[in-house]
Amino acid sequence: MTLMGKTLTPEQLQALVERLDREARQAGEWGQVASYIPELACVDPRQFAISVCTVDGQEFHAGDAGKAFSIQSVSKVFTLALALGRHGDGLWQRVGREPSGRAFNSIVQLEVEDGIPRNPFINAGAIVTTDAVLGCNAPRDTLGEILRFLREASGDEDIHINEQVARSEHATGDRNFSLAYFLRSCGNLTNDCDRVLGTYFHHCAIEMSTAQLARATRFLCGGFEGQRMIGLERVRAINALMMTCGHYDGSGDFAYRVGFPGKSGVGGGIMAVVPNVASIAVWSPGLDRYGNSLKGTAALEGLSKATGWSVF
Ligand code: DON
Repeated sequence: MTLMGKTLTPEQLQALVERLDREARQAGEWGQVASYIPELACVDPRQFAISVCTVDGQEFHAGDAGKAFSIQSVSKVFTLALALGRHGDGLWQRVGREPSGRAFNSIVQLEVEDGIPRNPFINAGAIVTTDAVLGCNAPRDTLGEILRFLREASGDEDIHINEQVARSEHATGDRNFSLAYFLRSCGNLTNDCDRVLGTYFHHCAIEMSTAQLARATRFLCGGFEGQRMIGLERVRAINALMMTCGHYDGSGDFAYRVGFPGKSGVGGGIMAVVPNVASIAVWSPGLDRYGNSLKGTAALEGLSKATGWSVF
């Protein structure tokens, strides 16, 4: 099989993901689990999974690839896809397309930038895109729409919301409430804060395995037959945003080390896209200082080096 970069046989790719799994389990620090969401604080950090789906339909898995984890901010990519589908480029009047250079839950830019969040992946931006998808619909219907998108994109019906995680985040969500109230005071939320955040916390609490997530990420690879989820122009737009903003204030470091678009979540998952080549999901719950998976990032770096899949 010839892929961009080096030519790898399926056996070599399978051996590679198994090597990355072994290395993840051997080497040093696992990182810290997200403790600000009580339900996530009790997850064992010493877990690892990797899944790769190539555009020609092959799959490679290693580690705990069948184990469901909390996708958290990874879900923001799917709500962005739906928000763009509903509002088109009009969405960009409510949210920007620039890296924030700040933590995912930072509040400082909002006031000086008139309640327009820097990008759709920081919490403030994702709260706006959630409001945009919600529109006048009931939260239950919007969550149904997000789940349908994920199930269709992955070809797997067994994707659900963990209610306990959603409740746990709601109970400790003062920072997100602050962001939402501020956005609303600037006229950038159409729904009331409780309704938007109820929906936001629930889509963050969706659980998927890396196998499911890598399959669900295929629609962002572009360039293959049968991708009907969104148009190619939107695929490019979302990948550009993941490349520049997908890892918050760690986005530059991710681009430097890995070299293709990715989106992280505080559950320790990362979805990543090698345009025209493959979709990837990794998971390891221990995080680095930016809130991105420590071992997950290291594995993507190793994968990029071994395959030559960097877009640069
Ligand atoms: O709103 C929050 O804080 C979480 N539901 C999601 C944050 C997140 O995943 C940041 N990613 N690394």
